[in-house]
Amino acid sequence: MSTTEDLFKNIISHAKEYGFIFQSSEIYDGLSAVYDYGQNGAELKKNIRDYWWKSMVQMNENIVGIDAAIFMHPTTWKASGHVDAFNDPLVDNKDSKKRYRADVLIEDHVAKIEGKINKEVEKAKTRFGDSFDEQQYRSTNARVMEYQQKIDAINTRFKAALEANDLNEVRQIILDLEIVCPISGTRNWTEVRQFNLMFSTQVGSVSEEASTIYLRPETAQGIFVNFLNVQKTGRMKIPFGIAQTGKAFRNEIVARQFIFRMREFEQMEMQFFIKPGTEMEWYHHWKETRMKWHRALGFPDGKHRFHDHLKLAHYANAACDIEFEFPFGFKELEGIHSRTDFDLGNHEKFSGKKLQYFDPELNQSYVPYVVETSIGLDRMFLAVLSQAYAEEKLDDGTDRVVLRIPPMLAPIKCAILPLTKKDGLPEKAREIMDRLKFDHACMYEEKDSIGKRYRRMDAIGTPLCITVDHETLTDNSVTLRDRDTMQQERVPIDRVEQLVMDKVDMRKALRALGN
Ligand code: GAP
Repeated sequence: MSTTEDLFKNIISHAKEYGFIFQSSEIYDGLSAVYDYGQNGAELKKNIRDYWWKSMVQMNENIVGIDAAIFMHPTTWKASGHVDAFNDPLVDNKDSKKRYRADVLIEDHVAKIEGKINKEVEKAKTRFGDSFDEQQYRSTNARVMEYQQKIDAINTRFKAALEANDLNEVRQIILDLEIVCPISGTRNWTEVRQFNLMFSTQVGSVSEEASTIYLRPETAQGIFVNFLNVQKTGRMKIPFGIAQTGKAFRNEIVARQFIFRMREFEQMEMQFFIKPGTEMEWYHHWKETRMKWHRALGFPDGKHRFHDHLKLAHYANAACDIEFEFPFGFKELEGIHSRTDFDLGNHEKFSGKKLQYFDPELNQSYVPYVVETSIGLDRMFLAVLSQAYAEEKLDDGTDRVVLRIPPMLAPIKCAILPLTKKDGLPEKAREIMDRLKFDHACMYEEKDSIGKRYRRMDAIGTPLCITVDHETLTDNSVTLRDRDTMQQERVPIDRVEQLVMDKVDMRKALRALGN
């Protein structure tokens, strides 16, 4: 088995080799932090999106879905706070001319100290064996405590600098920590400046008429500006939600870790409109509901955790992330935010239009509060892919790479494989394919040995293979092979449709959510 770093590299090359993810415009050497989904990737992505959409929109009578445009009136982004506050602090190294996010330089420095602590812990673990108490060791070992104090001091100073928007202090922290540019190795840093993450472009073909518009950095605003349209035309009663999936764009400066941080990505967001004062109740409800959604995929316990935000965004009065253990550690997968009436209130101010709900129970109008759930589809894709990827040594000494993707999400649900290309086996296999293709994405394959074809199906995560052989012609039975156990069983053709459906049915997971 590879080391963690190798494992992640192997996942990335596997994703390319098997048609999941390609670099964007690769023939021109690619475009940094932009990716294309290939034939298998597009299917997997669509299935994850479907699972989210069905659980949100189809399973909840009080949630409806919309599809708003990417371009919006520029004042939207003034009202949302993105024009003034959607910034990253940037710093350039004067020798290498390389640009960095100041916060990431500091976070990387902290991560290095954390690495030293982990090394000490690992060493102690081997020394003390079974009797090792990690928590006690961390809170008593002098060297570990010294490292931890250093980390705490840096974090406190950095947080204070960010809160005060004191960019000179951020630069001073970088200098005091003696952080060097990884390329030039020098500490020759420029001033720290704020850099807005929104991409802008012009509408209109005549320059005088041209006006700057932005590519949306979140899908949420398309929901806020349509709040009244949907409420009125759908006769929605509070509490109710509006859901949407779609592209968002951010000019990320530090774009790393494959599809984890991209410049063009897809979000799946739901804004839940509620009565002011009930936001904590709904915040906890959505925290739990979203965690259930993740857990219904059957990943091992301990792969997800909540991380409460200590520093809240300008619009939130409570916020947390659902973190997932990616190959590079626990990182944010989804955010749940109690956004108060910040967005609707500001859109009222900037548009001069009332965005209020008349509550028949209270006999009064108010600007609703909002609890939002926001997940990156590409990040979810990476979570599924990295959790599914397994390099296995088999009993017969051979190796296989298998994607143990939850069957309901698998790009191809079953492969139909005639043992040979002759004797009427392809025709029989096509008959089976023609029955299954109305319900499922299936693949017909007749090239190469059956063993090779099984391996290819394992590598793209196909849960079931149906093999048609000479016996099939006489007794109408086929071999059904399971991806995970590699067990093969003989089943009558008439049962195949049901067996495939049982295996890949999304309804089971939706039922487990208990809506
Ligand atoms: N409307 C709230 C919002 O946009 P966010 O925490 O900035 O909140 C929500 O983003 C989710 O979108 C994140 O949890 C992450 O999954 C995804 N996301 C954000 N930036 C991303 C990027 N550059 N690349 C891929 N996914 C991203």
